[in-house]
Amino acid sequence: MSKPQTKKRVGILISGRGSNLQSLIDAARAEQYPAEIALVISDKPDAYGLQRAKEAGIETRVIERKNFADKPAFEAAIDDCLRNADIEIVCLAGFMRLLSPWLVDRWLGKLINIHPSLLPSFKGLDAQGQAIRAGVRIAGCTVHFVTAEMDGGPIIQQASVPVLTDDTADSLSDRILTLEHKIYPEALAMLANGGVTLDRNHAIFNN
Ligand code: GRF
Repeated sequence: MSKPQTKKRVGILISGRGSNLQSLIDAARAEQYPAEIALVISDKPDAYGLQRAKEAGIETRVIERKNFADKPAFEAAIDDCLRNADIEIVCLAGFMRLLSPWLVDRWLGKLINIHPSLLPSFKGLDAQGQAIRAGVRIAGCTVHFVTAEMDGGPIIQQASVPVLTDDTADSLSDRILTLEHKIYPEALAMLANGGVTLDRNHAIFNN
């Protein structure tokens, strides 16, 4: 594959350990990868993902909710930060806050998330625990466009794992995470090179 003419500038929003962030950083090192990780924003100053970004030489910003009068002001600061860095695509990677519809609309079609379940099953928190309690035999992860409906946007990529009889939420989470690290870079590459677009709440795949 030849080097892409221009790599899309990607901003990543995190709140914690940043293992998905790391998988995107690692994938983006490849010359032919169509995106570069240009900015990492965390709403938590102690998020380990910030260290990962710094080690990779990526610009970081901490934007804490408590430093703003209300949620719109907090989100406006995030939006400003992304725009000032000329970000073209935003990835949520363990960002533990729901974005308001206005911000989602502003980035519609350019904003994606990874969720540790086979959506539309098990939206929201503790998806892996929900899967265990439901007794499903197959679990997995999903990368999807972010829309106003939490974990409800059109699906870009999924991967499945078996649920073993002695699995706990932790052991299942580990098995799912391995696949998260595979499909998130794949999905970001698809979005960055035009392989998938959002059209009226449908993911359109362009081969
Ligand atoms: C992952 O399981 C992801 O699917 C979910 O939050 C977790 C973040 O993990 N949205 P990490 O911070 O990327 O390690």
